Amino acid sequence: MAKEGVAHIVWHPTTVTKADRQRRAGHKSCVLWFTGLSGAGKSTLANAVEQELHQRGLASYVLDGDNIRHGLNKGLGFGEEDRKENIRRIGEVAKLFVDAGVIVLTAFISPYRSDRELARSLVEAGEFIEVYVKCPLEECERRDVKGLYEKARRGEIGQFTGISAPYEEPLQPEIVVESSEQTIEESVAAVLAYLEQAGILT
Ligand code: PPS
Repeated sequence: MAKEGVAHIVWHPTTVTKADRQRRAGHKSCVLWFTGLSGAGKSTLANAVEQELHQRGLASYVLDGDNIRHGLNKGLGFGEEDRKENIRRIGEVAKLFVDAGVIVLTAFISPYRSDRELARSLVEAGEFIEVYVKCPLEECERRDVKGLYEKARRGEIGQFTGISAPYEEPLQPEIVVESSEQTIEESVAAVLAYLEQAGILT
């Protein structure tokens, strides 16, 4: 049953529109949705792309898994339902950033296809750009930047993506970068080339 009062909530359109904000910014807004295993390089790449966008004077913002879980999504764990809620909220926040005229870069494992598709459905066609940061599990585990794979293998962390929880690869991502094959500069260039060709950067 709906919560009391919820049925009486009415959507208010804003008087300053997304188009107004994009005109002011001088570029379109969109979501660059980085997905991939822990340690694949999502945050590193998202930050490197943002650095480039920032230097070009564009409005951008990075939403990062570890950081968001310290605040907005504090208290959510890594079971299927909590990951779903994590991504649902991020999708909604990303939508607000797009409305604000910002290029928002999200760096979350986001292991379930259905959750990524939900996030995609919240914005207009062409505004959601899925970037698959592909890296073999063995390589992520070899890097083990945070020592989490070792703990997961020892059974000290449960439901660890790739070890004891699933990762569903994107089927038709707009961009694929292979972090074990390409340099960070090549990956950044691939993302920027896509944005240029898609008419986001004019
Ligand atoms: S998810 O699946 O999208 O909700 O995850 P996300 O919010 O991106 O958080 C991933 C980071 O949390 C750390 N961590 C774990 N990852 C995967 N599985 C388990 N069980 C887990 N526990 C903690 C880990 O540092 C992830 O960071 P990244 O940057 O992906 O390496």
